[in-house]
Amino acid sequence: MENYENRVRALYKILSKAYDLMDLIIFSNEKSNPRKGLASKLPNDRLRVLDICCGTGNSAIAIAKKNDNNTVIGIDLSSDMLKAARNKAIKNKFDNISFREMNAVKTDFSNESFDVVTVSLALHEMPQELIDLILTEIGRVLKPSGKLYIIDWDRPKHPIASLVFAIFPTLFEPKVFKDFLKINWKQLLDKFAFKYLDTERYTFTKLVIAIKSE
Ligand SMILES: C[S@@+](CC[C@H](N)C(=O)[O-])C[C@H]1O[C@@H](n2cnc3c(N)ncnc32)[C@H](O)[C@@H]1O
Repeated sequence: MENYENRVRALYKILSKAYDLMDLIIFSNEKSNPRKGLASKLPNDRLRVLDICCGTGNSAIAIAKKNDNNTVIGIDLSSDMLKAARNKAIKNKFDNISFREMNAVKTDFSNESFDVVTVSLALHEMPQELIDLILTEIGRVLKPSGKLYIIDWDRPKHPIASLVFAIFPTLFEPKVFKDFLKINWKQLLDKFAFKYLDTERYTFTKLVIAIKSE
């Protein structure tokens, strides 16, 4: 695990410098932006929301911006990605969001302490064993009937878009990416005591929605 943590930190030390360009280029259309789609799903109630593998905070910030009654905590292994996230939160004067350096496999949070857990564009980089460990940890920190939202890459149906997808992100992603695209989310979530609810499609991505079984 230590090797894995060091590899992730080294990679995202470099990527943090230009990471937000991806949102500017790929998710520029507000209507099909998965982060906006995610934020629109959450009610503006007094909810505790955990965004794991939050990176530069784009999904966490979209939620905090839309819902000032939500308390959003973003966690990530990379202090460089977190620095970029904190800078944006400070610049926008959000007081309902905070960021902490933590491994999503084993967090410091108490059992059943969050109403919502979200994870965006992170699981596709992980081998299945790691995804399983993270889903177990999410199940631990989520309250019964709490919601889980997963945004990740998905091959578009349109032939031209599908061709573009074969270049970005496919060419840049690790070997596990091809297996990730084949995951049957209903089956996988069932194994971890979640009930699959729905899938929505956005630019190059999908949003999988599930609820923790009682
Ligand atoms: C591709 S980025 C996605 C960032 C962000 N969620 C987004 O939607 O843009 C993947 C992030 O996952 C983080 N990460 C990878 N493994 C992790 C782990 N086990 N615990 C916490 N963060 C992790 C990386 O540091 C990186 O910031």
